[in-house]
Amino acid sequence: MKKMFLMLMSFVAVLQLYSQQTVIRIGTNETDLILCTAPTGRLYQSYLGPRLVVNSDAENLSYFVSGPAADAPVTPRGWEVYPASGAEDYFEPAFAIQHNDGNMTSIFRYVSHNQTKKDGNVTETVIHLKDDVYPVEVSLYYLAYAKENIIKTWTEIKHTEKKPVTISRYASNMIYFESPAYYLTEFSGDWASEVRMSNQQLQFGKKVLETKLGSRAAMHCYPFFELGLGQEVSENQGDVVLGTIAWTGNFQFTFEIDNVGNLRVISGMNPYASNYELKPNELFTTPEFIFTMSDQGTGKASRNLHKWARKYQLKDGEKDRYVLLNNWEATYFNFDEARLEVLMNEAKELGVDLFLLDDGWFGNKHPRVGAHAGLGDWEVMRSKLPNGIPHLVETAKKAGIKFGIWIEPEMVNPKSELYEKHPDWVIQLPNRKPYYYRSQLVLDLANPKVQDFVFGVVDKIMKENPEIAFFKWDCNSMITNIYSPYLKEKQNQLYIDHVRGVTNVFKRVRDAYPDVEFMLCAGGGGRCDYEALKYFSEFWCSDNTDPVERLYIQWGFSQIFPAKAMAAHVTSWNRSASIKFRADVAMMCKFGFDISFADLNEKEQEFCKLAVKNYNRLKKVILDGDQYRLVSPYDTNHTAVMYMNEEKSKAVLFTYDIFPRFSEKVFPVKLQNLDPNRRYKVEEINLMPGAKSRLKANGKTYTGDYLMKIGIEAFTGGKMNSRMIEITAE
Ligand code: GLA
Repeated sequence: MKKMFLMLMSFVAVLQLYSQQTVIRIGTNETDLILCTAPTGRLYQSYLGPRLVVNSDAENLSYFVSGPAADAPVTPRGWEVYPASGAEDYFEPAFAIQHNDGNMTSIFRYVSHNQTKKDGNVTETVIHLKDDVYPVEVSLYYLAYAKENIIKTWTEIKHTEKKPVTISRYASNMIYFESPAYYLTEFSGDWASEVRMSNQQLQFGKKVLETKLGSRAAMHCYPFFELGLGQEVSENQGDVVLGTIAWTGNFQFTFEIDNVGNLRVISGMNPYASNYELKPNELFTTPEFIFTMSDQGTGKASRNLHKWARKYQLKDGEKDRYVLLNNWEATYFNFDEARLEVLMNEAKELGVDLFLLDDGWFGNKHPRVGAHAGLGDWEVMRSKLPNGIPHLVETAKKAGIKFGIWIEPEMVNPKSELYEKHPDWVIQLPNRKPYYYRSQLVLDLANPKVQDFVFGVVDKIMKENPEIAFFKWDCNSMITNIYSPYLKEKQNQLYIDHVRGVTNVFKRVRDAYPDVEFMLCAGGGGRCDYEALKYFSEFWCSDNTDPVERLYIQWGFSQIFPAKAMAAHVTSWNRSASIKFRADVAMMCKFGFDISFADLNEKEQEFCKLAVKNYNRLKKVILDGDQYRLVSPYDTNHTAVMYMNEEKSKAVLFTYDIFPRFSEKVFPVKLQNLDPNRRYKVEEINLMPGAKSRLKANGKTYTGDYLMKIGIEAFTGGKMNSRMIEITAE
């Protein structure tokens, strides 16, 4: 009897403990992230996966008190949401600290949370945690975008100890998965070989993706990943997670499989060489980590990100874009007013909206005639352009187009007046021989004066030329000679404070000139992160504009970014590819040219004009529609991508034969997500003048069902052959 009574009492006690547990549901229309406090007050991840059919909090609670959090009173090791160093979890923590007394532990306990609807679609959840031994607080932020199925999350850290504490880990987020196997797709590369995709199965231990470039996130590794749960990621089926970190500097993703086969993914800034001294009451805000999950492969997950980015993150994501002509590959540094006038008139003839003047327009004492001098001296080079920028803006205006200009304001050549005047504004070591990347050094953006200078570069150009409509903002060097004269003995803050300085300037520029378009560039596609893209409307994908290479590069970036954010130009790289092939490839993104009429015969010029017209007619579908990656260049010698508007009334299909083998069997291209019952007219467009379509389906009408199940015979055995096909509902 006594035994029974004791058992009953302990059952009641357990129930009471559980009833004190708090369940927090962070949900989109398709995903649920469920967090739950343990009776100890610590916060655990109970569930992350497809949305659950649970309606009330009571129901939620009964589900989740039996999850990993329930084990916490017995063994505190569970899926703690923000585990810190020095406790009982023996794997990689999200957070690590050294307190004023030298102690290196923290344990955070739940204090409170609140959820607010930002609008009908977005819910913000803020969870406050606190260490009950030390005055250190952490707030976890989550924005859940219901329709787009995106969760964006970041963390704020604060303390009120007497003196600064040192934080050596400060993840944006940590999430856990339990699956029989985990497969990672990573994106690696280099200058002119961006975003090469490769897959691997993760095994016990850690796999780290990170960069240490300082001034940009990417080059050898890109700030995003794809994860296949249970199987390798694939385009149209399987459980996948796509994640990306919004930080224009050193980032780190840690994928760690623990002793029981669970995977933790930790995302944030790279803490490398960055033990940060946090002052009392100073707020440390981590970058945003953005992720989406799909049970139908990466195609759907990418579309989630594309839609979300256009609506919520990308600068001017829902606005139109200019088609432009850039002079870089047409002239490099060799131009003068007359040459630019010719190009601007060609731009007009082509039918583009804007002329973009690239590098080489500035510097007098140290003229910018090559990459070795002049960077930092943002005065027009009088010998080259005696009438200054206003005259060029005027010439463009006369030609009926807008004017844009290239800058690289965060950098300096040692051969410049800026360097002569302000060597203390430059990141460089006081006691070692400098190492130059592209003959340049990085300005010390941790220094507020330098931030003012960089803002001033844009401000001055805009004040003198209020009609400038576009900037290409380059960043050709990573941080070398790592020493900030401004930070002095706090060099361990350089990587973080520098990027914060850069971001401050980006914000100031966007706020001062909200209607101007800005392109990110970092020696090609080195700056492609969702923080910078809040202030920039697009990024240059690569200096490699060989259309064959671009098919892979664009395929890679499209995993994470919408076509609207990806700049692609027709150039003279790979002249053995036809102008049509080159244009068809660039037309899949934000379209432009980097070529002069001198490089094109009459027929080719005519074709380019037609391409601009076709693009303008269809760019709403390409830039604002849904993208379907139908055939991967990684799998075959062909590739196909389709774009479709929301109403499913118009689609544009691009198909490419890259280097097919002799007599290779080709398959029809099956379209996706059309209305099966509607009839669609198929028309091959964007043909060379005088050329006739040899597409069997050309001019014919099919049901959506037919086009999805049987497809269009668009591939051929030709080399570097392409097709643009317009599909219109009747
Ligand atoms: C970088 C860019 C190019 C061009 C040059 C100019 O390499 O990626 O597009 O602007 O700088 O120097």
